Amino acid sequence: MSGAIRQQRAPAAAPRDHGMPPSLRAAALKGLSSENKTLPPALFYDAAGAQLFEDICQLPEYYPTRTELGILQKHAGELAAQVGPHAALVEYGSGAGVKVRLLLDQLQSAIAYVPVDVSRQQLLQVATERAAQYPSLRIIPVCADYTQPLELPVVPGAARRVAFFPGSTIGNFHPTEAAAFLRRVRHTVGNDGGLILGVDRRKDPDILHAAYNDSAGVTAAFNLNALTHLNRDLDGSFDINAFSHLAFFNDEASRIEMHLKSLKEQRVQLAGQTFHFEAGETILTECSYKYDETRLTTLVEGSGFTIDTLYTDSQDWFWIAWLRPTTPVTA
Ligand code: AVJ
Repeated sequence: MSGAIRQQRAPAAAPRDHGMPPSLRAAALKGLSSENKTLPPALFYDAAGAQLFEDICQLPEYYPTRTELGILQKHAGELAAQVGPHAALVEYGSGAGVKVRLLLDQLQSAIAYVPVDVSRQQLLQVATERAAQYPSLRIIPVCADYTQPLELPVVPGAARRVAFFPGSTIGNFHPTEAAAFLRRVRHTVGNDGGLILGVDRRKDPDILHAAYNDSAGVTAAFNLNALTHLNRDLDGSFDINAFSHLAFFNDEASRIEMHLKSLKEQRVQLAGQTFHFEAGETILTECSYKYDETRLTTLVEGSGFTIDTLYTDSQDWFWIAWLRPTTPVTA
């Protein structure tokens, strides 16, 4: 690993709160203050939540991870050819970082791997592991909340930047935010870069419902862990037993919604503020948008990219999209 983890600079006066990024803290407090309460999905991923997500990926009902891995396994060579030689590969939300190995194994001439993640601990582990596995690759970990604008380090000698955003994490963004994020990626990769994007497809609602309501209750624990995270990092008083997991497919919006439902009327303290919950009131903790080709095309073309190739699985459940920049950036 080369050098220390780069921390996006926080405003000097911002409180540190055990390492929760100020933007995440602000988003959490703002979300809980609004009429329809929300929390940012990034809150799921403290160390315990990152582990719970790994557990979700092993569940029989949760198809996205293994489906995407299958597509990557099958098409990694083609994708590497699209990426081309001497690239710097930027991964947003590197997590436990298993998928990228399938690409890196094929990208023998790559100059650098730049994992970006909000979980410092996972980022360090991934950086250390990749450095050992790919001795000739420069590993440049960036600890940041990539839902906010961020400056990435310039990699000397890299022919182009290619971004990798797997896992259908793009589905966590509302369509307008997704477009804003992709435009930032478009800016980051420049005119001759590209983006390898994992996208979960619209499908039978029963399959979707099962994937977010697993029989072992791991998704419920993952959802509730957002409150545990708040309790620890923002001095909160959430009673985990006074909330329950709720997940369903919203067909019109084409998204899975995950909520935490207050089981009684209650008041909760957080970061010195008091929040009131009605019995039955919910906090929207995650939207997971499911794309069809029309919706994906609209998103991609509104962001300065064009769909070059769509790779899918035998059940047509998931896409790995290879996106190319269209118009040169003028602004
Ligand atoms: C990591 C955002 C792709 O939306 O399916 C898994 C997170 N939430 N189970 C998803 C998640 C509930 C996951 N993403």
